Amino acid sequence: MTIEIHVAPDAGAAGRLAAEIIRDALRKDPGLVLGVATGGTPRCTYEELVRSAVDLSSATLFLLDEYVGLDGADPRTCRGTIRAQLTGPLGIDDERINAPDVDAVDLSAACARYEADIDDAGGIALQLLGIGRNGHIGFNEPGSSFESLTRLVQLADTTISDNSRFFGSPADVPTHAVTQGIATVLRAGHLLLLANGASKAEVLSAALTGPTTPDVPASALQLHGHVTVIADAEAAARL
Ligand code: F6R
Repeated sequence: MTIEIHVAPDAGAAGRLAAEIIRDALRKDPGLVLGVATGGTPRCTYEELVRSAVDLSSATLFLLDEYVGLDGADPRTCRGTIRAQLTGPLGIDDERINAPDVDAVDLSAACARYEADIDDAGGIALQLLGIGRNGHIGFNEPGSSFESLTRLVQLADTTISDNSRFFGSPADVPTHAVTQGIATVLRAGHLLLLANGASKAEVLSAALTGPTTPDVPASALQLHGHVTVIADAEAAARL
């Protein structure tokens, strides 16, 4: 197990550090296959990438997850979020963002296709991750198998409650999503986990120093050979 932990003074500094790792990967490989997460945590990273006008024109992006049941044009979709925070401001064509087809009639075939698309792109070289208060990565909620692949999942109540800040009220948060599985995430070459704020301190410590268990999906990161964690001081308080 190799987990490199960086503690930054605040979320802005954490974002700048994460952006530097991404820029460095792009310098080595402009055609980088980059896995992108949404939610509040990566925002500072995307702001910094946009501020520094990073060249993503040859990169390929894969979403970590996508809500089911939203209109495709809804800005709150994960694709819409990445478009608004990252690719749009950088002038990157929407076609460079790969996402599972959550509107497919045969959703399990669409999930299998997403796995194949990742493989056909040569695999995800660098995967950005956040962590849920309940230990989820992607939308792999507690109890998810470490063998899991891209699939339809039901969101946990804590996830719906936490994400209601993006939707106005818990009733407006989609109940389901398609997420890369834990095994999908573990196939990426380098995992970059970001965690900010006191609400993540306990779970980050459990994930990185506790037992590897499906009860804490992020503990699966201990099974990967190349993980970088960037936490702000509050999130790192229990490490
Ligand atoms: C987002 C995702 C989630 C979030 C996690 C943390 O694509 O897959 O795992 O990373 O819920 O969310 P925030 O960053 O809003 O605290």
